[in-house]
Amino acid sequence: MIALTSEGLVASAQSTDLKVGNFRSLPWSDNLFDGAVDIEAIYANPVPVIHAVIREAKRVLKPGGWFFAKMFGSKTTGATSGKRLDARTTENPTRGPLAGTGVTHVFTEREIRKIFAIFSELRLDWVHRSDKDGACEFFEWLVQARK
Ligand SMILES: C[S@@+](CC[C@H](N)C(=O)[O-])C[C@H]1O[C@@H](n2cnc3c(N)ncnc32)[C@H](O)[C@@H]1O
Repeated sequence: MIALTSEGLVASAQSTDLKVGNFRSLPWSDNLFDGAVDIEAIYANPVPVIHAVIREAKRVLKPGGWFFAKMFGSKTTGATSGKRLDARTTENPTRGPLAGTGVTHVFTEREIRKIFAIFSELRLDWVHRSDKDGACEFFEWLVQARK
């Protein structure tokens, strides 16, 4: 058993197919899952990988399945500080909540809508919150995309 019990969920080696690896290439067949979730992990990749991962997520979803994602927005404090790889990808931001976290890509609404255009339906919300007594601001996209 793993620590999903606090959520009322049960997982065991018998009942669950848990894998560790690079999600750029998912080790599952097409049209398998009802849902897929990304909580601020895809953003930590260069743009070509981000596009590939989202195509992979769509591939493994059943028709009508949902992809849920939480992704950092471009207005997040310090998001493009540090060494830039492109307009919104930084090798290691030097300021803000993403400082020192490695490759970081932050998204605009237009970009999210473009990337998820391969899905049949997109619902987009966002969260704006502060941290460290208001010194850092987080902008996070909440993406729901249906295959
Ligand atoms: C900010 S953490 C978020 C982790 C977790 N989702 C959470 O909410 O606590 C980002 C994670 O994404 C993982 N990650 C980034 N790119 C990845 C990739 N291409 N394949 C697999 N994992 C990746 C990193 O190893 C890291 O654990």
